[in-house]
Amino acid sequence: METDGGAGNVVRNKKLMLKDYIKGSPKESDLYLTTESIELKVPQGSNAVLVKVLYLSIDPYQYIRSTKIEKPGYFSSYSPGSVMASYGVGRVLESGHSDFQKGDLVWGTTGWEEYSLITEPETLFKIQHSDVPLSYYLGVLGMPGLTAYVGFYEFCAAKERETVFISSAFGAVGQLVGQLAKLTGCYVVGSAGSQEKVDLLKNKLGFDEAFNYKEEKNLDDTLKRHFPGGIDICFDNVGGKMLDAVLLNMKLNGRIAHCGMISQYTLDEPEGIKNMMNIIYKRLRLEGFVVTDHYHLFPKFLDFMLPCIREGKIVYMEDISEALESCPAALVGLFNSSNLGKKVDLLKNKLGFDEAFNYKEEKNLDDTLKRHFPGGIDICFDNVGGKMLDAVLLNMKLNGRIAHCGMISQYTLDEPEGIKNMMNIIYKRLRLEGFVVTDHYHLFPKFLDFMLPCIREGKIVYMEDISEALESCPAALVGLFNSSNLGKKVVIVARE
Ligand SMILES: NC(=O)c1ccc[n+]([C@@H]2O[C@H](COP(=O)([O-])OP(=O)(O)OC[C@H]3O[C@@H](n4cnc5c(N)ncnc54)[C@H](OP(=O)(O)O)[C@@H]3O)[C@@H](O)[C@H]2O)c1
Repeated sequence: METDGGAGNVVRNKKLMLKDYIKGSPKESDLYLTTESIELKVPQGSNAVLVKVLYLSIDPYQYIRSTKIEKPGYFSSYSPGSVMASYGVGRVLESGHSDFQKGDLVWGTTGWEEYSLITEPETLFKIQHSDVPLSYYLGVLGMPGLTAYVGFYEFCAAKERETVFISSAFGAVGQLVGQLAKLTGCYVVGSAGSQEKVDLLKNKLGFDEAFNYKEEKNLDDTLKRHFPGGIDICFDNVGGKMLDAVLLNMKLNGRIAHCGMISQYTLDEPEGIKNMMNIIYKRLRLEGFVVTDHYHLFPKFLDFMLPCIREGKIVYMEDISEALESCPAALVGLFNSSNLGKKVDLLKNKLGFDEAFNYKEEKNLDDTLKRHFPGGIDICFDNVGGKMLDAVLLNMKLNGRIAHCGMISQYTLDEPEGIKNMMNIIYKRLRLEGFVVTDHYHLFPKFLDFMLPCIREGKIVYMEDISEALESCPAALVGLFNSSNLGKKVVIVARE
């Protein structure tokens, strides 16, 4: 007999299922509602936890997981015909796990359904403080809150009076980053997709300035208007054209916390990021991070955030809909602003490289790198940028480092090729850092003390390509770009 009752009963369980992989912008019809019966009982001997779902979170990653992910990495696809999943808050009805008891309030990954049997209870967190709205555990006190806290305090290293730009500033993450930056004494500007959000950012959330990116013709000009002296810190939630404009406006030694790229998620092919040279010239640090690596900071985060909420230092805006049936529209709303929230043999035989390849003879640089680094790349010293950097991003290991030294593949182009695989910086928590040698000339004596003995003892071999006479300079310059130079190009102008 089906009832609506408590543990042990059989009840009807409404569920939202993924019809097929979503292509392009999400539509409500990409999901369908179904009803199944569920016995409100944890299978005997299992450590599962049965919860009655109270709140469900609608997050951008759910869109990513609803698409067909050809090469599962950080995310894998939901299967068509399966129930959608997200973070949720629920009440425990029955538990096979000793950490959870009947009646406990919990948050963690649940299905988009009324009753959810959580078979991996280690993904659940017990709610200890219920004097704040329970829905907060899906936002300011949950995954987005921790993302803002970790992203801002661990990756931005902000100081008082620094200038901070936040894209998608009215989102679950952005609105908190802005307030944390204000608490630090920074000058804060955010972008959002409607006038209403812009007004709320300025009037309710304490941002110094905000703008509607959809109404701006030239994002570079917009950022120059708001940051005439440049941006110290960018918390990037959207990627794409906005990130390209941000790169043009970053100050020397600026930091970019690369959190999300929501402007790219619904595109067939990502727009490329073209202004990568700025990372070098301006010695920028662009660092991706994934919040799940930082869940051990949760208690510290709660100790910080709960008093901020109770004392009204942090304000949080939610957009709450009623009933499971409203989830598809809420998912669609995330994307339409309606929710208010290089020479081979020499390298190998003379210079001791383990392997080398001629990039001009390789059809697919991704395949080439996979062949040479089946387990991935820890460190890339990037001298060329462009397609090679794009292929490198696909092949970096988790927590890899890219020293962004030069982009010679781009110097002769009218317009730089865009870097498309920027999402890897986030998934793989990569650090991509530009540097300019002139900043480090004070290290010259130390460098010479190291290098002179290395050369004298033959530990370092150095190849030069020497031409005679000033007249050979033009050909030498051309040679830098057509692979005809063989080592460091030097022209002897006079012999003494
Ligand atoms: N690295 C991590 O561990 C981590 C964790 C959580 C979230 N994230 C990422 O962080 C970002 C923000 O997440 P959230 O939870 O704050 O999101 P959210 O609250 O769901 O807000 C999403 C917002 O993105 C904006 N948006 C949608 N399409 C856009 C486009 N084409 N260009 C610019 N903005 C667009 C919309 O606001 P507008 O009206 O302003 O357009 C939308 O409201 C997302 O990229 C997400 O994937 C990363």
